[in-house]
Amino acid sequence: MLEAGCNRKTTLISLGGGVVGDLTGFVAATFMRGINFVQIPTTLLSQVDSSIGGKVGVNFKNYKNIIGSFYQPKGVIIDTETLKTLDEREIINGLGEVFKYGLIMDYDFFLWLNDNLNSILKLENNYIMNIVKKSLNIKKIIVQKDEKESNIRKVLNFGHTIGHGIETLDDFNTFKHGEAVVLGMMLESLISTEMGLIDRKYYIEIIDSLSRLVSPVKFSAFEQKQIMNAIKHDKKNEKGKIVLVLPIGKGRVNIYNNVDEKLIEKSLKDGVVI
Ligand SMILES: NC(=O)c1ccc[n+]([C@@H]2O[C@H](COP(=O)([O-])OP(=O)(O)OC[C@H]3O[C@@H](n4cnc5c(N)ncnc54)[C@H](O)[C@@H]3O)[C@@H](O)[C@H]2O)c1
Ligand SMILES: [Zn+2]
Repeated sequence: MLEAGCNRKTTLISLGGGVVGDLTGFVAATFMRGINFVQIPTTLLSQVDSSIGGKVGVNFKNYKNIIGSFYQPKGVIIDTETLKTLDEREIINGLGEVFKYGLIMDYDFFLWLNDNLNSILKLENNYIMNIVKKSLNIKKIIVQKDEKESNIRKVLNFGHTIGHGIETLDDFNTFKHGEAVVLGMMLESLISTEMGLIDRKYYIEIIDSLSRLVSPVKFSAFEQKQIMNAIKHDKKNEKGKIVLVLPIGKGRVNIYNNVDEKLIEKSLKDGVVI
């Protein structure tokens, strides 16, 4: 950047998915102690999630987003036309985070997503616009209350404690972020059921719905170990305790840091069954 003549007045523009956005934001946050940047997200995941909220960073070795910062863009420009060149797997990747918003805060939105999944996958404009607006509004409400994730913002991590563990498998080459989050939400819902926080009927409703995005996976003993190891090193942990966001009712979740590790191991061993 120095060789290209960049200075404190430079504005960086990130045009691309969440990876480009997180990296550009991190560079903007640290170059000359911070320069302006603008996000132009071009994947569904980045349009509904990563482009707002100010979390920027990069992975290091096998640790997810372990080097990073909170740094807000000066603006975010979203054009849903860009989604037309994405394949269905990338749309589903983004939908993982969208279904998450329904499950953590808006059960009616979750029901609407289930009813309209076919039109959504066809990228019908009204449906996609509704998804982007609703998702960003939910994220905005939460982030405005707790920008630095000291409390309520943690609810956005539903599916992410186990999901980040799953994402690290095979050096991040098997599952996309949103796919891993879907699998994480399934297993965290299973833990909720085991703890008696939600009933079996709601659990089955969640699994039936999420299975339309990603089929449940049975992990090998080796993979279960790898996932557990990554979970134990997660930066979301507090004083050595694993933090889990668990469903407690329709469109409602709560934050727990006292879940027995054995329950997480058991959920990975048993897997979800449909
Ligand atoms: N900062 C946050 O708050 C936050 C939130 C969620 C996820 N993330 C991060 O975002 C990353 C995932 O982002 P992503 O899902 O956008 O993945 P990505 O950035 O890897 O993009 C997916 C693929 O789509 C391609 N692509 C981008 N736009 C395209 C377009 N319009 N048409 C065709 N191809 C296109 C990219 O080149 C890439 O190959 C993960 O690293 C995740 O950790 C960050
Ligand atoms: Zn995510």
